[in-house]
Amino acid sequence: MAKSILVTGGAGYIGSHTALQLLLGGYNVVVVDNLDNSSEIALQRVKELAGEFASNLAFHKVDLRDRTAVENVFSSTKFDAVIHFAGLKAVGESVQKPLLYYNNNIIGTINLLEVMAAHGCKTLVFSSSATVYGWPKEVPCTEEFPLSAANPYGRTKLFIEEICRDIQHGDAEWKIILLRYFNPVGAHSSGHIGEDPRGIPNNLMPFVQQVAVGRRPHLTVYGNDYKTKDGTGVRDYIHVVDLADGHIAALKKLFAADVGCEVYNLGTGKGTTVLEMVAAFEKASEKKIPLVMAGRRPGDAEVVYASTEKAERELNWKANYGIEEMCRDQWNWASKNPYGYGSPDNKD
Ligand code: NAD
Ligand code: UFG
Repeated sequence: MAKSILVTGGAGYIGSHTALQLLLGGYNVVVVDNLDNSSEIALQRVKELAGEFASNLAFHKVDLRDRTAVENVFSSTKFDAVIHFAGLKAVGESVQKPLLYYNNNIIGTINLLEVMAAHGCKTLVFSSSATVYGWPKEVPCTEEFPLSAANPYGRTKLFIEEICRDIQHGDAEWKIILLRYFNPVGAHSSGHIGEDPRGIPNNLMPFVQQVAVGRRPHLTVYGNDYKTKDGTGVRDYIHVVDLADGHIAALKKLFAADVGCEVYNLGTGKGTTVLEMVAAFEKASEKKIPLVMAGRRPGDAEVVYASTEKAERELNWKANYGIEEMCRDQWNWASKNPYGYGSPDNKD
């Protein structure tokens, strides 16, 4: 029988792409999301893209901090596993509003874990982040590197990782995979789903895309005095569909093996500078991205990229796409949906 997966935050950027890959892979998918940073239209599009599998997707508008609502979802379906994306993710906002981040991300997660345990569903994939490596002393980052947090958002990831390790230590029935994402970019190749952040984008590619469609005048480049080939920061950009497939690989591992609590990097293992990424996007879009050079952004690391060996070896997963495909698909999404899922009127 098809397995049922609860996807928290499934209307969001990574969640919607993962929900689609799950449906296409034959899973039943239930999404819970409070739509705080997303639109239900994303899920309508997922259904359209899922074709014959569309009816295997259900959605409940639920905030994970609403214990009764979460209980009701678990009472109505017996889940084989949970993929937990739901959370707030804006680093700068987390510095301004730490309690909001601790409340939303940590309380939401504790609620979820308690309800899961009460319903005997103890199989979890959690969205962690390369942010837990802080400013790494060397690269590529392996899963054994020391962990640190430079801001409240990063601390929520660290705390939740620790909570997961603790609950699995206390109860061996838990099977947990923590996935540390590097820098997800791009969109589904159809151009029908993609990233649609509320307000001014914090991340590089959503900002670049808004410059390309004329919503912003220029990209500010944060720092061109790093010790990198062109002076700009280096990151490991990963196509969101590769990332989504990484979750299916994680689920397969959880269903097939005695896992305990394991952690895997999801990246490509390749580093790209800001200027290289901008050049690749300009090529894909045939648009010029005006640049303004500025000082370093506080808290930014110089060079971060993943060691992908553990995921390749143990999850049998490897990223397929390079930055050309990432930029091609990002532009396809942006040009078809210059205002994301919304209209120009309700966008900053
Ligand atoms: P996103 O904001 O697009 O998706 C997160 C979703 O969670 C949103 O739809 C939001 O409405 C929902 N949500 C937030 N709080 C909720 C709550 N209390 N109850 C129910 N729903 C809630 O972000 P994303 O880029 O898809 O990221 C998904 C996960 O991956 C997050 O946990 C994020 O921290 C993590 N992550 C993202 C990146 C990245 O660069 N995008 C990198 C590393 C880790
Ligand atoms: N950058 C700019 N201008 C911008 C935005 C970004 O020059 O307007 C630069 C940054 O300085 C950095 C690179 O582009 O060198 C990438 O920046 P992002 O903000 O896109 O990504 P980060 O690596 O800084 O952080 C992101 C998420 C974090 C997450 C981390 C690792 O924002 O939440 O990836 O997954 F933890």
